[in-house]
Amino acid sequence: MSDQHAQKQAAAQAALQYIEDDMILGVGTGSTVNCLIELLPKFRLKGAVASSQVTEDKLKALGIDVVDLNFAGTLDVYIDGADEVNAHLQLIKGGGGALTREKIVAAASNKFICMVDESKTVEILGRAFPVPIEVLPQARSYVARQLAQMGGEPVYREDFVTDYGNVILDTYDLDVSEPIKLEAKLNNIVGVVCNGIFAANQADVLLKASSSGVETLLR
Ligand code: A5P
Repeated sequence: MSDQHAQKQAAAQAALQYIEDDMILGVGTGSTVNCLIELLPKFRLKGAVASSQVTEDKLKALGIDVVDLNFAGTLDVYIDGADEVNAHLQLIKGGGGALTREKIVAAASNKFICMVDESKTVEILGRAFPVPIEVLPQARSYVARQLAQMGGEPVYREDFVTDYGNVILDTYDLDVSEPIKLEAKLNNIVGVVCNGIFAANQADVLLKASSSGVETLLR
């Protein structure tokens, strides 16, 4: 399984063991999750909570009921991908811009299953992939200055608006050696809605696909 897409499919296949008929499943966003969504019709789900409009549309196209999180209560399982993951199962997410809705659904779930191919594993988060930060449009410039003061290099994601009508600053060169602290610090900047570090609420289970198969890591 050297091919990245094949690894995503293998991770998605491995995630099926966490899904049961009659559950309301939390469903993430991205190309790895898309592999999972294709497999969902084999279950008789009670419904699904979608972490983005894109996912919602895909689920509905397959005839799966999409439930508003406010009416779903606590979910048993949320399954999503990641842009980077470290040995503590802390993540960077938001490459697709759905970080806020993803973080909400993950927080409202008892178990967060994360599926990755081997290219996503890193020793220290944020070295290769920038931290996506969702910002209220009016605060974009102010937040960018604050990030620069922290040593970051924010890049405005052009022609992109989140599901909540906000903008994204993809921020390079932040020191993510203490992810929990940085996650909180970024959230403290006025105008920041959410950031793509998932450390305070990391994944519970990591399904890591590589050329030798799918490995399961627990936090
Ligand atoms: C979406 O906003 C992201 O958090 C995705 O979960 C992440 O980018 C992983 O996407 P892929 O599965 O496409 O790599």
